[in-house]
Amino acid sequence: MGLEFGQKLAILVLATVCGAAGAANTNATRIRAIAVERCSTCHGPTGQSSNSLFPKLSGQNAAYLIQQMFNFKSGARRSTVMEPQLADLSGDDIVQLASHFSGERLNPRPVPDKALAEAGRNVYLLGNPNSGVPACAVCHGPTAKGGQMLPRLAGQHAEYLELQLRRFIDHSRTTDQTLMHSVASKLTEDEIRSVSYFLSGLD
Ligand code: HEC
Ligand code: HEC
Repeated sequence: MGLEFGQKLAILVLATVCGAAGAANTNATRIRAIAVERCSTCHGPTGQSSNSLFPKLSGQNAAYLIQQMFNFKSGARRSTVMEPQLADLSGDDIVQLASHFSGERLNPRPVPDKALAEAGRNVYLLGNPNSGVPACAVCHGPTAKGGQMLPRLAGQHAEYLELQLRRFIDHSRTTDQTLMHSVASKLTEDEIRSVSYFLSGLD
């Protein structure tokens, strides 16, 4: 006796659902493996890198992470280190890696020098009306969490923030010349140092 049409349909639906779930699981496992075996070498197992040469990815806005990975892949943001890391990854892999790291917790670092942190807080919240530096908070938000394409700065390594500010100034960070170049090029050395220091301690 053959199966009724309804029974056949039920088996077909079940098989399709199980197959799709299996594929999704395999891909999630693959993404975790890439994150742990590859990205973690520099960015740490959860994206909370301990070496300030490498930016923290944990807690960073997913849309921003995706945008930057596509920028590295296309060469729009030049990095001889990052480009080969992404060469064999698909657009879908990138989206999933971004969501993986974005969901992890980012821990700030203690900032014992209160005077330096306070000077940095003023730059962040007020800018410098004398030299025309706008308040960073206008774009990066009052608590420096950014949003969508705007990076979170709270809790990031001070050394990395300083490096990127210098790169916006000398155009070696090749994306977004208009906004961040015009902001960063008005900052003094003291302001670069204090605002980066303040941000690295912000939860
Ligand atoms: C060999 C070290 C190394 C490995 C491995 C590595 N990265 Fe990076 N990553 C860097 C460096 C260095 C930078 C900073 C690039 C620059 O601005 O010059 C960076 C920057 C980034 C940024 C930009 C962050 C920001 O705040 O703008 C993202 C996103 C990123 N990496 C994701 C990844 C992912 C995902 C992987 C794994 C597939 C990975 N990286 C593997 C070294 C590495
Ligand atoms: C007019 C809006 C605007 C203002 C004001 C602004 N930023 Fe930005 N900032 C941006 C945008 C947009 C990006 C992303 C650039 C890109 O896509 O490469 C960015 C990126 C950055 C980055 C790179 C972060 C990373 O993870 O690589 C740093 C550091 C930064 N801003 C610091 C500052 C500081 C410090 C101030 C205040 C002195 C400031 N910004 C003011 C818009 C702004």
